[in-house]
Amino acid sequence: MPFRKNWFSTLLALLSLVTVEAAWAAPEFHPGTVWLDTDGKPIQAHGGGVLLHDNVYYWYGEDRTPGLRSAVSCYSSTNLLDWKREGVALWQTNLPVVNQRRAFVERPKVIYNPRTKKFVMWMHVEQGRYDFARAGIAVSDTPAGPFTFLQVIRPVANTNDFAAADSDPALQRELGGMFRDMNLFVDDDGRAYVFYASEDNWTMYVARLNGDFTGPETPAVENRTWARILVKEHREAPAPFKWRGRYYLITSACTGWAPNAASYSTADNILGPWKTFGNPCTGTNAAATFGAQSTFVLPAPGRPGGFIFMADRWNPWNLPDSRYVWLPFTMNPDNTFTIPWRDAWNVSDFATQ
Ligand code: DGJ
Repeated sequence: MPFRKNWFSTLLALLSLVTVEAAWAAPEFHPGTVWLDTDGKPIQAHGGGVLLHDNVYYWYGEDRTPGLRSAVSCYSSTNLLDWKREGVALWQTNLPVVNQRRAFVERPKVIYNPRTKKFVMWMHVEQGRYDFARAGIAVSDTPAGPFTFLQVIRPVANTNDFAAADSDPALQRELGGMFRDMNLFVDDDGRAYVFYASEDNWTMYVARLNGDFTGPETPAVENRTWARILVKEHREAPAPFKWRGRYYLITSACTGWAPNAASYSTADNILGPWKTFGNPCTGTNAAATFGAQSTFVLPAPGRPGGFIFMADRWNPWNLPDSRYVWLPFTMNPDNTFTIPWRDAWNVSDFATQ
């Protein structure tokens, strides 16, 4: 009965469409409020990023659950709103000991390497005084891990004369090797890049990764495999994305845990030159990025030109209680964008901006 079968499968397809739309329909994202996981516990995934793999979203972030020796958590979702805690993606005990103390992790991000079939995590590995400033790299065969820690490195040792007053090659190398706030970006051609605040946060670096994504491409050649960008602009919290062949990078100023004004930069070539523009945020408390700091930009599901700005509203007195500010934005026809504040939103809001 081919007719019946077709009719039935059409009905099923329509029903699933209605279900997907219904899941998006209710006004559900409430930026800055406590966000509970599917077990009713506050989500612990700060300074995080999202990986889409096999139609499932994975949210990785700093796990600041009191008493749990977890460095990085992993949550999963199919609608970006309801997150199931998958568990600890990386344990603190896997981190190196620096000056007799266990290092800690900030701003972990995960990408998938289709050739090695590994999930690869990069992170900022740090200790108390923030002068360890190194990249940590870990891998896993499964998205939730636990990840195996591979190494801590400084991807590029810059010996260029970038700070004339400090024309000491050793100091040049030290500052030029620093690795703090970071993010990963996989380009359309499958090549991956790490963005990170270097030179004591004065200049952002972008470095192409090797084929396994487990280190920088070598030999490192300035402006060919890596580049200094946003030179002396003193920015951190890089959140890259791409739209119509152009690269965008949202960053914050460097004021510790305190919020400040975001800005964004664009480039036609990921290694530069980059040009910086003003703060894209608009509305309540836009001058302080809504009291938050960029961490990631996620392409909105099924909405070309639609993105979700992910930011952290840090609570320095109680870091586990830091909140998430996720806001939708849509690219303008002239490739500019703004990020308006919203008390609540759902995915259908992309169409109405
Ligand atoms: C700002 C960075 O963006 C955060 O990730 C964190 O390192 C704080 N500084 C620490 O003060």
